[in-house]
Amino acid sequence: MTLDLRLAPMAAVTNAPFRLVARECGAGPLTSEEIDARALVAGNARTLELTRVLPGEQPVAMQLLGADPDVLAEAARRLEAAGADAIDLNMGCPVAKVVAKGQGAALMRDPLAAALILRTLRKAIGVPLTVKIRGGWDDRTVNAVEIARIAEREGVAALTVHPRTRSQQFAGVAPWEIVAAVVDAVRVPVVGNGDVRSAADAAAMMRATGCAAVMIGRGALGAPWIFRGAHVPRDERARIIRRHCALIETHLAPRLAIVQTKKHLAWYCHGLAGAASAREALFRAPTAAAAQDVFWGLW
Ligand SMILES: Cc1cc2nc3c(=O)[nH]c(=O)nc-3n(C[C@H](O)[C@H](O)[C@H](O)COP(=O)(O)O)c2cc1C
Repeated sequence: MTLDLRLAPMAAVTNAPFRLVARECGAGPLTSEEIDARALVAGNARTLELTRVLPGEQPVAMQLLGADPDVLAEAARRLEAAGADAIDLNMGCPVAKVVAKGQGAALMRDPLAAALILRTLRKAIGVPLTVKIRGGWDDRTVNAVEIARIAEREGVAALTVHPRTRSQQFAGVAPWEIVAAVVDAVRVPVVGNGDVRSAADAAAMMRATGCAAVMIGRGALGAPWIFRGAHVPRDERARIIRRHCALIETHLAPRLAIVQTKKHLAWYCHGLAGAASAREALFRAPTAAAAQDVFWGLW
């Protein structure tokens, strides 16, 4: 069984430097963090920053968050023109202020709206359209299969399933049987997602569900070498961390670079002796270089 392991979109985490590091470790097709369609169309500078792609990342999908079909279509056209290899619609974000606007996981509750959005997006772009869904809205409305069938009918090229419901947020265990049910229901490739923390977990998910690929989110935080699918020696891990810090410094705006360096180094502390106090020192560090000094002192 060949493992197609992918990095999950994660807001304020899976920016270009982290995606490129994941790719260099062997990750398959990449997806950007969610991009607010309305802010993109309005030309918001911080949103535009999220659309940056580095050489070596392709193929990379840009993920859109929104609920207005025309705004989403315009955002998708712009992302395609800027070089996106695919457009992914976010139907899974559980955040209260997002679902209050009918976006993200709220679309799971409104199959008609979802179908109209997918149809409009499909017509707007030439590159593949994909969608990332949840199991449903809550445990009384587990409708991933229905939504997946609608998405297939509207022409999506693939779909990713994070099988928890919106109400579950990130609690409990991801019910992989919902991924299996979606695999059985559609012919397009299904990417399984949820609670995969190792290559062995990914192989288990593929066996249990028949999914075509596996997407890893939290399991890649502080451990992008998970995409190697094999043991990665300590000196190689150090090289990857240095590479990640250098990419952040080179490619992100300074105010973002310091936040991202600290955040990722805090994750890289995981499992090291003295991690808790080092994390505090990391977040107090006045510069990215000082944060790196704290980290390598611990390493
Ligand atoms: C910090 C964080 C941010 C996330 N942001 C997004 C996002 O922008 N778009 C999206 O589709 N899913 C997002 N997710 C959900 C993940 O892509 C994934 O579906 C979820 O974490 C389950 O996979 P995991 O168990 O491998 O972490 C986010 C998850 C986390 C932890």
